[in-house]
Amino acid sequence: MHKEKILVIGASGQIGVELTLALRKMHGAAQVVAADLREQNPLLAGTGPYVSLDVMNKEMLHVQIIRQNITQVYLLAAILSATGEKNPSLAWNLNMQGLLNVLDIAREEKLSKVFWPSSIAVFGPSSPRVNCPQQTIIEPTTIYGISKYAGEFWCNYYWQRYGVDVRSLRYPGLISYKSAPGGGTTDYAVEIYHEALSQRSYTCFLKQDTYLPMMYMPDAIRATIELMEAPADRISVRTSYNLSAMSFSPAEIAVSIQKQIPDFRMAYQPDYRQSIADSWPQSIDDSVARRDWGWKHEYDLDAMTVDMLQNLG
Ligand code: NAD
Ligand code: SER
Repeated sequence: MHKEKILVIGASGQIGVELTLALRKMHGAAQVVAADLREQNPLLAGTGPYVSLDVMNKEMLHVQIIRQNITQVYLLAAILSATGEKNPSLAWNLNMQGLLNVLDIAREEKLSKVFWPSSIAVFGPSSPRVNCPQQTIIEPTTIYGISKYAGEFWCNYYWQRYGVDVRSLRYPGLISYKSAPGGGTTDYAVEIYHEALSQRSYTCFLKQDTYLPMMYMPDAIRATIELMEAPADRISVRTSYNLSAMSFSPAEIAVSIQKQIPDFRMAYQPDYRQSIADSWPQSIDDSVARRDWGWKHEYDLDAMTVDMLQNLG
């Protein structure tokens, strides 16, 4: 059987660390090359090969892909929603050019597969707020959402026109304890667990009734691997799949934490991220992913809270 050699770009980030470790477990340490602009995350040290790489430098990226005999790329390097609003042109440049560089090289080198994540941020205020379907009105109002929506159509284009097997998920807000989140609007749902353990209190940057789609990292990693392992004829969506696990508000995550830490207290001081959150749906209908390749989430809010506090405590 042909052995895959995988390049994970953005491997030191919130998803990259856990995805790299999971892929190394599956394919063998030497088969998964971690790459990032910043230094290697300490959790990756000694677990397999690492290269320093800027996805914007197409020539160097191409050289690495040839030199390392890469057959699959997972592209995770991006600027997320909150940081993107502070520097829109930087977010557009990285999120678009990074993807185009990878897609072009994938076409030229006939890579077997590419993974690139989209986000719930593709949806805007005119999309349905509850159980937002796979196909609906999509008019994003953040630069991050605009870049993700454009990226989805580039993926579809490279599949339709050149046969590049690129697959994508619209991740909800992801919650994890291993690697810190990188500047998103849903980051409060990670910070809160750290502060609950160290301070017994947290001041949230979103209002108490702001519902957002969320997912625990083990579910997100499994979804990614299941999508990439699915036979190509099971993939009917070549833009990006809706993906869902749970939806909760800051008030509800506070109650979930209080079940484990009864004296935990929550305060609210909404900032510029409130309007980003208000532009996104509260919950997502992912029935197409469930039908096509059998997606099923495992963690709900309370199960995630118990696991987060156990691992951080
Ligand atoms: P992150 O910010 O934690 O990690 C991104 C990594 O990319 C960082 O380690 C950064 O150093 C690296 N990077 C930045 N510019 C680079 C460049 N020019 N060349 C190489 N590496 C570079 O982000 P994340 O949360 O792990 O997100 C990964 C992907 O998943 C992104 O596309 C993001 O939009 C998407 N996503 C994340 C979430 C979430 O909640 N974390 C939700 C939806 C979608
Ligand atoms: N968690 C991400 C963000 O808030 C959603 O894509 O930016």
